[in-house]
Amino acid sequence: MCGIICYIGNQNTVPILIEGLKRLEYRGYDSAGLAAINSENTGSLYLKSVGKVAELEKKVKKDNIYCDYGIAHTRWATHGKPTEINAHPHTDCTGKLFLVHNGIIENYESLKNELIKNGHKFISDTDTEVLAHLIEDNLEDNFEEAVRKALSMVEGTFGIAVVHKDFPRKIIVARRGSPIIIGIGDNEYIAASDINAFIRYTNKVIYLNDDEMALLSDNNITITDLDLKEIMKEPETIDWEYSEDEKAGFKHFMLKEIFEQPKTVENAIRGRVIDGEGISKLGGLEPVLDRMLNLKRLTFVSCGTSFYAGLYGKYLFEMLTDLDVDVDYASEFRYRNLKLSHQDGVVAISQSGETADTLAALREAKRKGALVLGLVNVVGSTIAKETDAGVYCHAGPEIGVASTKIFVSQCVILNLIALLLGRMRGLSIFEGITLIKEIKKLPGYINTVLEKSNAIREVAQKYLPYENFLYIGRHLNFPIAMEGALKLKEISYVHAEGYPAGEMKHGPISLIDEKFPTVAVATNGFTYEKMVSNIQEIKARNGKVIAVATEGNKEIGNIVDDVIYVPETIDILQPLVNVIPLQLFAYYFADFKGCDIDKPRNLAKSVTVE
Ligand code: F6R
Repeated sequence: MCGIICYIGNQNTVPILIEGLKRLEYRGYDSAGLAAINSENTGSLYLKSVGKVAELEKKVKKDNIYCDYGIAHTRWATHGKPTEINAHPHTDCTGKLFLVHNGIIENYESLKNELIKNGHKFISDTDTEVLAHLIEDNLEDNFEEAVRKALSMVEGTFGIAVVHKDFPRKIIVARRGSPIIIGIGDNEYIAASDINAFIRYTNKVIYLNDDEMALLSDNNITITDLDLKEIMKEPETIDWEYSEDEKAGFKHFMLKEIFEQPKTVENAIRGRVIDGEGISKLGGLEPVLDRMLNLKRLTFVSCGTSFYAGLYGKYLFEMLTDLDVDVDYASEFRYRNLKLSHQDGVVAISQSGETADTLAALREAKRKGALVLGLVNVVGSTIAKETDAGVYCHAGPEIGVASTKIFVSQCVILNLIALLLGRMRGLSIFEGITLIKEIKKLPGYINTVLEKSNAIREVAQKYLPYENFLYIGRHLNFPIAMEGALKLKEISYVHAEGYPAGEMKHGPISLIDEKFPTVAVATNGFTYEKMVSNIQEIKARNGKVIAVATEGNKEIGNIVDDVIYVPETIDILQPLVNVIPLQLFAYYFADFKGCDIDKPRNLAKSVTVE
């Protein structure tokens, strides 16, 4: 979704802003813009374009003025179409103020009507433009005070950066519900809505909390609350690395991230298991271990791929612990009238840690007294901060919009949490040791599947003419079928539906014919025979079937049209091997179709609106 980057220091600002915008591209956007200022003569550069950042870059000319600070933005349209006028930065009636904004100003209509009455002229359809005029309306001789007053009048969410030509060498950033992170460089500050935008320059950061604002100026940063009361904050060092060759030779980030998964699993378990005792050790959960012991029910809340990780978690926790386990879409959970108590645990699962619905769900759970835990990848993100305790994926940035390595990482960590809880509540040491042994073999199993990528590519090519797919699986593999279907539809724009295999007879089977292939997750395990029956039912109706099956299974090759073989592990972990060929199938299918795999249309990496 929308992205913000701003810079103040001694370097030529525009190239830094453009590079930052490019690093935000993965989040999904439809237009971009920048405003940069030369503080000597207060000359400025104000550029906007629809489409890719490359379009904006084309507008930057060699003879453009040198600017020493500025702000920039990628916009994902909410209020008003993706046009140049609606792109950020927005300005006020004087044209001296420039402002970029992530989030939504909910009371913008009433504010706009008031401002129009006061003589302000609006040109865009956005909610953001209201903020620019509101600051102008409140501006006397103190820029910070005007921003503060304006922010106190708005309802909704914001991450903003604002500059004014009459107040040179000052950038004000502020947040409520939409992240702003300030990078501290050598005599320079570079703030953004996402660390990826500036990780090349510095790994020393300050996270703004809600209702905080910062004034970035020459060699100085002042953080205050929205009453301008100063807040002292020490910079934190983050361990994400910058790499020049970001794709490491892969055609897309998604493919790179699929191939990173053996490493992702290793990172998820490093230092987190005690082999001999068959238990995990999760430092982030230690402060709440006593409360966890007394939980009766655990509910996973999340969205999209993270929801499917939660669905897997439900089956997993039922197998390893004595808890009642539930899972819900965060966007639904937040509106249910749930009876939660201190014996409830709610686990918010999120790659970005910023997903608006997941955040709202966890706040609702907290309000009702539940213990709220987080399983998050982005360190310092809002969900990570607002949960009572949690575990990080430590998987590094995931740039491809379609989540792959984080799904596997989330599922591995769910195993570690289940193991911890299970071992505290009745799971035997033998079961614990067996699970750890197999988890440690997962990177090897995943590598075996990755080595078959060419064969999977051929299967994807063979099925290119088809426009509808059904994905089926049972029990622990049901979430994998759902995730496989999601991967295919989101990056190739082909219709794919995930279903529990047993439900097929209750409706979807009527879709089956020779033009509607099925991907069946049918590895060995206690539901295998039932899966074979479902596959036979499809074959009896002339449906084509691609099966993901266990190496050595000779029988299935005689029944289905194509088989992708995967190594065998224990039932609990088998889904984490089975998902790999489905990721690769979706990737190659979309690549053959020439789709924009890392940035699928209409999608955003971090969904910060509800
Ligand atoms: C799909 C995908 C999305 C996200 C969902 C939740 O490939 O990436 O469905 O899983 O938007 O995002 P997070 O995990 O950041 O809360």
